[in-house]
Amino acid sequence: MPADSKDSWNSASEGYAPFEAFTGQFTRAACVELPDLLPETSGTVRIMDVAAGTGASTFALGKQMSDHCRQARRTAAIVATDFSDVMLKTLMQKFNATAADSEVAATQAAAKEGVLELTSQVADAQDLSAFADGTFSAITCTFGIMFPPSPEKVVREFWRLLMPGGVAVVTTWHYNNIPYDILPDIAHVFKGHSRFKDLPMAAATHKFGQECYIRRLFRGDLDSGPKLWKDSDLSARFVAGSSVCLPQHLAAMMNKNPLSSDLGDWDEAAVEKYLQDHWTGENGQIILRGTALVLVARKTKSE
Ligand SMILES: C[S@@+](CC[C@H](N)C(=O)[O-])C[C@H]1O[C@@H](n2cnc3c(N)ncnc32)[C@H](O)[C@@H]1O
Repeated sequence: MPADSKDSWNSASEGYAPFEAFTGQFTRAACVELPDLLPETSGTVRIMDVAAGTGASTFALGKQMSDHCRQARRTAAIVATDFSDVMLKTLMQKFNATAADSEVAATQAAAKEGVLELTSQVADAQDLSAFADGTFSAITCTFGIMFPPSPEKVVREFWRLLMPGGVAVVTTWHYNNIPYDILPDIAHVFKGHSRFKDLPMAAATHKFGQECYIRRLFRGDLDSGPKLWKDSDLSARFVAGSSVCLPQHLAAMMNKNPLSSDLGDWDEAAVEKYLQDHWTGENGQIILRGTALVLVARKTKSE
């Protein structure tokens, strides 16, 4: 199933937790400075988390904004959007259940106090027309912008939705993402393919981790559409991180992840054994390493 299809992401939501555990550290790093970047507004601060998935990004944002709202005595409304209804259903189930996770619990507590509201809405990032122009102080999008067929449309929607002075914080994978190391290796062994030089989706998503590409995308230079951000309103930084994962979790995730499902179904037990034999270090765990690119794009007030 192609990775830009909704069905593919709907079925991925089931095995998404270990991936989320890994990517969460980058998500947190991306939204940590968001409160300082927000424009002055008199009323409730409105933020959209685009391609929110099962909520790793949304709840990290929820925790940051809970602390900020209490300190600054303001209120925030976060709307999580995604084209996968199953992803969003899982996100809202987390929000409505008793939470062990500290970011979910912080978001719930703030909602109970009335300083923060969290809602979700199914929407394709390329068409967010259900939301009015200039109504968001911030838009966050972590590991999402690389999947829609037209990222140019997504960026135009961000521009339209942001109020003057508003900011988009977009996180993408830089070069050393896990599938680059592990997927070609096990694909070779279990699928009878020759070793991949480029993976189908990894190849497509790779360019988003390059600062020059993402700057061109946000400037509106990649198609004949309107010019958007000025280069001086864009800033990028790189965040490196690592975490550990058990082979069974990674194997289950690979079978469900659209990034690898382009290659067909995996034999989960065989993948687990191969990972165990070739990839584990101390305590039978796999070390996942990655680098993310965080782009901050401010919509200048003069526009
Ligand atoms: C790798 S996940 C990231 C989820 C979350 N932001 C996080 O940090 O864990 C990518 C998400 O993009 C969503 N997605 C893919 N194409 C989309 C589109 N055209 N519009 C909206 N969401 C999309 C998928 O459903 C999936 O939830």
